[in-house]
Amino acid sequence: MIAFVPLSTVDGAAVEALLDRAFGTDRHARTAYKVRGAALPIPALSIAATHGDRLIGTIQCWPVRLMDDDGRSHPLVMIGPVAVDPDRQRDGIGRDLMTRMLAAAQAEGLDDRLMLIGDPEYYGRFFGFDAARTGAWRLPGPVERHRLLARGDAIPAVAGMLGPA
Ligand SMILES: CC(C)(COP(=O)(O)OP(=O)(O)OC[C@H]1O[C@@H](n2cnc3c(N)ncnc32)[C@H](O)[C@@H]1OP(=O)(O)O)[C@@H](O)C(=O)NCCC(=O)NCCS
Repeated sequence: MIAFVPLSTVDGAAVEALLDRAFGTDRHARTAYKVRGAALPIPALSIAATHGDRLIGTIQCWPVRLMDDDGRSHPLVMIGPVAVDPDRQRDGIGRDLMTRMLAAAQAEGLDDRLMLIGDPEYYGRFFGFDAARTGAWRLPGPVERHRLLARGDAIPAVAGMLGPA
């Protein structure tokens, strides 16, 4: 049976190994890692899926902010990586992790300010994320605009720089 537990309760080395398997070992150069900086993941929104003593999926969320060109800071939550073990993909685990994270974000009052870099075919189709308000955001590295997605009433549709909170 699959169990969902706080990410902080699982071995950090196992998390890193799973992320390497899902994204490749060159993943640290990705723009998303620069956006979140040295922050720690938000505990309530960071979840692991386990099967027996095996780690099969993770979701992590980070405190970030958009500093707009008028000097206002907009606190946001960056979701990701979402990773499912390649052996267990397409079995609903990714959707389950996202659904649990979204419920936790609602409980924390953070579900009005969510963003991520990911496939709109997945995050749009199942969870209502889109790129409608992110077009004027600048990031500390390259990003495919159609993959810069957001959801929630507090998402600012303004020009600004995205970075660590
Ligand atoms: C993307 C990922 C998290 C999805 O989790 P999962 O448990 O494999 O997928 P789920 O079972 O929740 O969802 C399956 C459905 O999503 C679709 N899907 C899965 N990954 C997709 C993607 N990248 N783009 C579009 N659709 C996708 C499947 O086709 C399937 O659709 P169907 O039900 O119509 O057949 C997982 O495949 C993964 O870790 N991939 C590698 C890392 C990655 O790309 N992460 C996302 C970027 S942050």
